[in-house]
Amino acid sequence: MAVELFNDGVHKCISFSDLVKGEGVQSNQFLIVNGDEAILLDPGGQLTFTPLSLELRKLGDFDTLNYIFASHQDPDIISAIDAWITRTPAKVVASKLWARFLPHLLPAYMGDKVGERIISVNDEGLKLPFGDTELLILPAHFLHSVGNLQIFDPVSKTLFSGDMGASMVDDGPEHSVENFTDHIQYMSGFHKRYMVSNKACRLWANMIRQLDVQMMVPQHGRSFKGPEMINQFLDWISALECGVDLLTEESYTIPS
Ligand SMILES: [Fe+2]
Ligand SMILES: [Fe+2]
Repeated sequence: MAVELFNDGVHKCISFSDLVKGEGVQSNQFLIVNGDEAILLDPGGQLTFTPLSLELRKLGDFDTLNYIFASHQDPDIISAIDAWITRTPAKVVASKLWARFLPHLLPAYMGDKVGERIISVNDEGLKLPFGDTELLILPAHFLHSVGNLQIFDPVSKTLFSGDMGASMVDDGPEHSVENFTDHIQYMSGFHKRYMVSNKACRLWANMIRQLDVQMMVPQHGRSFKGPEMINQFLDWISALECGVDLLTEESYTIPS
């Protein structure tokens, strides 16, 4: 079901949070629309392709999709790239680290046509012209993928944070976190294992603090609304030991 997170008449942010059925991890897909332009964020794999394309058809945005954004390379992010590329005119926006690997998800007959459908983003990110505005494609490398990007939408002041801020709950971003301390239990294990290091988290948080973020919507679970709640998250992640910080010799013991 499509839920509007923002709508000023020209610019809309729409989320889909209930399309994963069965054992797949709950995941959120997002559509940003500005006038006649539309970008779909982290549409996922075969599991979500059919229900998501049906939802988009209801909104009338399926055949005119301009971009598909892949924050990183995971199955829940972009593994149905073949279906999206063959059935929509969209260009795929992805880190340059993944641009040469994504063709492995496409049939051979697409051959050298793939390159012109992929916008390969350098490590420093870019400003993507979009309708009457520009979306900021932000670097979020190692959070958790080696080539990881996020989108900041300056109109809705929303940070589409990918796996950063993800919570392992059944709720989608139409539910926002109400008590941060209580919510940590749903984020802690995921961030400790999937985020690469405290250094990456801290440097990323310092960058985010420079933006006027009013809402942060991760690719799994609930959203964070308002500067106070977002700052609580940034403070928490800036102090979190995770990934390689937690490695010991025991992490590399030969199985007995
Ligand atoms: Fe991921
Ligand atoms: Fe994910």
